[in-house]
Amino acid sequence: MYKIAVLPGDGTGPEVVAEGLKVLEAVSESAGFAMDFTRYDLGGERYMRTGEILPDSVIEELRGYDAIYLGAIGHPDVKPGILEKGLLLRLRFELDLYINLRPVKLYPGVDTPLKDKGPKEIDFVVVRENTEGQYAGAGGFLRKGTPDEIAIQESISTRKGVERCLRYAFQYTQKRNKDKKLTLCGKTNVLTYAFDLWERAFHEVGQKDFPDITRDYAHVDATVMWMVKNPEWFDVIVTENMFGDIITDLGAMIQGGMGIAAGGNINPEGVSMFEPIGGSAPKYTGLSVVNPLAAIGAAAMMLETLGEDKAASRVENSVIHVCQSHLKSLAAGKMGYNTQEVGDLVVKSL
Ligand code: IPM
Ligand code: MN
Repeated sequence: MYKIAVLPGDGTGPEVVAEGLKVLEAVSESAGFAMDFTRYDLGGERYMRTGEILPDSVIEELRGYDAIYLGAIGHPDVKPGILEKGLLLRLRFELDLYINLRPVKLYPGVDTPLKDKGPKEIDFVVVRENTEGQYAGAGGFLRKGTPDEIAIQESISTRKGVERCLRYAFQYTQKRNKDKKLTLCGKTNVLTYAFDLWERAFHEVGQKDFPDITRDYAHVDATVMWMVKNPEWFDVIVTENMFGDIITDLGAMIQGGMGIAAGGNINPEGVSMFEPIGGSAPKYTGLSVVNPLAAIGAAAMMLETLGEDKAASRVENSVIHVCQSHLKSLAAGKMGYNTQEVGDLVVKSL
């Protein structure tokens, strides 16, 4: 019996999470394990109603689950930054979800905007550091609102934070066993402090503990160029928080869009949180037009992390089948089915 905390969140989050839960219920039943879901109504609605974003008591409760399943955070009536920082980022920091794992995999039959590239070429994983960099929130204002105002937004890289992320990435590359190549994505030519640390740690850890993994380096600007031109060059990419945020939106686009892109916020020693990487899509809320496959893919990643590998691959294979044999497009409103029907198709092909 797995205890799962469910945070449907804002906008279309609840719609896609409902489909993920449907699939989890179906697959667990036939795989011989059970899942107990506890819902939390965190998000923009609750914030506007009560002023509460994420009570400390909820954080303590969340530590006691086997995993967390999240829909989306972000509400059009709440100023940008409040929910993102108060809820999503706070969860990442408080639960020390120091890895953001984002596979970029083009499934057969899915359209990519990249000409002449297919599933063989688009199949890599981004390991994004998830608790440091500019996201740590260091900085502030001086003389705010005056002509002399100064805004400082600092980037934090700790040896410990960088090294644990690198170790995870090396191990992941080993386990993935594809090209056994790990690319550090950085900016050593300009960010000469942060990426000096990253680069030294990368080679030290790699040389000493992962000699079987080929070490590769690319500047972030070159990385996005190659993600478009030669995505087949990548096996696993490891990078800092902000770069990882940016390059994984590009990753989502080349794998077929936000409707399919899933990710995990992982604490390898604790509880992890899984989510579709797209946002709350306010303009589609309540219309049953968004694609739940990203949320279902996130559920598959959750199963894998829980050690239910067989159930995880059954879900992933069903997603692949539905992409290939049913959906007209992965885009919202263009699937040929509504959100619930897509969930049903996945359940049926389990
Ligand atoms: C993501 C999102 C978040 C981030 C936002 C919502 C704070 O874009 O998960 O990639 O920047 O990490
Ligand atoms: Mn993002």
